[in-house]
Amino acid sequence: MTKVRTRFFCDACGYETVKWMGRCPGCEAYDSMVEAVQEPAASEDAAGHQAAAPLKSLGEIASTERERIPTGWGEVDRVLGGGIVPGSLTLLGGEPGIGKSTLLLSAGLRLASAGRRCVYIAAEESAPQVRMRADRISENNPPPEFFVCETSDLPAALKATAGAAVVVLDSIQTVRVPTLRSISGSVLQIRESVFRIQEAAKPGDGANGPAFLLVGHITKGGEIAGPKILEHMVDCVLAFEGDRRMGLRFLRAQKNRFGSTDEIGVFEMGGKGLEEITDPGALFRSAGPDAHPGVAVSSLVEGSRAFLVEIQALTQEVSLAMPRRVATGVDPRRLLSILAVLDKRAGVRLGTSDVFLTAVGGFLAREPAADLAVAMAIASAARNRPLPATTAFVGEVTLTGELRLPPSLDRRVGEAARLGFGEIVLPDSARGRAGRLAAGGVDIIYSRSIVQCVEKYVR
Ligand code: TYD
Ligand code: MG
Repeated sequence: MTKVRTRFFCDACGYETVKWMGRCPGCEAYDSMVEAVQEPAASEDAAGHQAAAPLKSLGEIASTERERIPTGWGEVDRVLGGGIVPGSLTLLGGEPGIGKSTLLLSAGLRLASAGRRCVYIAAEESAPQVRMRADRISENNPPPEFFVCETSDLPAALKATAGAAVVVLDSIQTVRVPTLRSISGSVLQIRESVFRIQEAAKPGDGANGPAFLLVGHITKGGEIAGPKILEHMVDCVLAFEGDRRMGLRFLRAQKNRFGSTDEIGVFEMGGKGLEEITDPGALFRSAGPDAHPGVAVSSLVEGSRAFLVEIQALTQEVSLAMPRRVATGVDPRRLLSILAVLDKRAGVRLGTSDVFLTAVGGFLAREPAADLAVAMAIASAARNRPLPATTAFVGEVTLTGELRLPPSLDRRVGEAARLGFGEIVLPDSARGRAGRLAAGGVDIIYSRSIVQCVEKYVR
């Protein structure tokens, strides 16, 4: 007896039913149900009985800390946790024009130059466009191990990837499985495509196919377009961010099955593609040694590195009933609570002022450790008194106005010392650890509260 079961999926939301419906009960879209035919499983016998899947005791399973494929590009390898894991799926999301194709093309060219076969599936651009970009970003002759496959037919492209170490797919939203009657980029297509890619990458029995690097478009809301299952099924989700007009780009891991998610890679987009920035020392500060009111520097940690980041604030008296609060690179809710603490605890009143706040260089100052610098930048702007240019401020500001200790103090102090800062303000509770901090010429100033700090620097 052969059983062929039919299922219907909503093309818009992925809702699954056994019979066709004119209107999807999930998302109420009309005429969005498409049919997907389900063949009987290979492990079923003629009578439809299912054979049991094999079991292995944990001890029998060979634990191979899989060998990684280094891209040879330090900033990319760092974010991935030491290179690409063979047979893994990595999804790279980012705004249009941010540099996703450029990043993965560069990575592919480097891998191919090191003798690893790389296939670039170009479903968005033509092969000559890929060649033009490759010539722009690399002066070397094209490596013979780098292949371009210009097609949007996913099954055909996957056939061509046999034997490759790494496959770049640009992009998951523009390839399609032609046997599915649905347009590329639809939930059904993306879902089926990622299943097929996973099959190609992990052919079973512990064997590895190529590692896949997938470009993913994002929606207006900043999410990767397509079903959530896409992010569940891949091993790593990376985000490529930055301000499109500014040169700096950040690569972050949002999910990583083989490493941590708090490392960031820093790049600069120039005329010849992306350059990695291994020493971001002075990047996140505005030029010039002059001290201006409204400027405070913090020492922020991302993964294994500390960055000295300048926070700039501007306050302006206005006669609006609802003055504006605009934050770039700092969480706007954080800004509101810091403004409330400044008002209530330190007497810095901004109820009738617009407040603009920005982290220099497009840095995302998401860490609570940036609070003190945010508060000091605002207080300095409000009182029109500059802070010393070589002082860094580190600490989380609590709602009571006290300062809390962030982790990784030694890294923060060490980077400030390396970059020639004269003093660093830390929460009082760091006192006990002072002996262990490699201060190297930086004076450590302890402060108990935001009031104390405001009094000392911008009275
Ligand atoms: P691209 O990689 O095409 O972005 P995405 O794939 O994320 O849409 O990058 C596009 C932008 O990068 C484009 O506006 C031009 C710029 N760019 C440079 O400034 N220098 C370069 O060497 C390259 C290749 C691109
Ligand atoms: Mg692109």
